[in-house]
Amino acid sequence: MEIDPSALDRKSAYLLQISCIIPRPIALVTTLSKEGVVNLAPFSYFNGISSSPPIVMIAVGAKRAGRKDTRRNIEDTGEFVVNVAVPELMDAVIIGAQEHPPHVSELELAKLTPAPSRKVRVPRVQESPINMECVLHKLIDVEETALILGRVVRYHVRDDVLRDGQVDPRRLTFVGRLGADYYARVTNIFEHRRKGRNGPTDTMGG
Ligand SMILES: Cc1cc2nc3c(=O)[nH]c(=O)nc-3n(C[C@H](O)[C@H](O)[C@H](O)COP(=O)(O)O)c2cc1C
Repeated sequence: MEIDPSALDRKSAYLLQISCIIPRPIALVTTLSKEGVVNLAPFSYFNGISSSPPIVMIAVGAKRAGRKDTRRNIEDTGEFVVNVAVPELMDAVIIGAQEHPPHVSELELAKLTPAPSRKVRVPRVQESPINMECVLHKLIDVEETALILGRVVRYHVRDDVLRDGQVDPRRLTFVGRLGADYYARVTNIFEHRRKGRNGPTDTMGG
């Protein structure tokens, strides 16, 4: 079947796209408002785009009444923290995705623990095994979405999941967002080596 995206309404276009590009990692992003409220929100349009220097991206869409708190806070403060989602954080993911006024902290609603960051003022989420402290590198308006590029200035990785300077995916269950309200636990892991190479470490890029 061929689908002409220009013939789809917003909701259908959204549902089709988020079901075609899967699984997506989930960044549970913390930001700080000018008033000092910690905001928490999940973003699955999230990826790394460069490792030297380390740059990650999140794509923050518009909302009916103006800008999402995450975008506004990053524009105001130039900082955010990406906390990687794991199955135990899924209730927090859903709470973070609810719309609350800016003075409400979803971090508190989700009963998560703010831990101090080293390089930015925004706290990280203690319960997440991987936190990336980011400073705003660039914000690019793509139609009504803000493509936010953040330079990682500090990683925090839980000791038990690190092996030889990498996160061992067998020591941690990652979550992938699928379409609709579906998610996957990354547990069925296989190794597939590139012929003639020594492994993934001798190339750059994804
Ligand atoms: C798993 C999940 C992934 C999401 N990914 C995105 C995303 O990539 N971009 C986006 O704009 N909204 C995404 N959302 C919706 C936002 O989390 C939601 O709009 C949230 O209320 C924004 O919060 P804020 O206004 O506090 O920034 C996602 C929601 C869920 C549940």
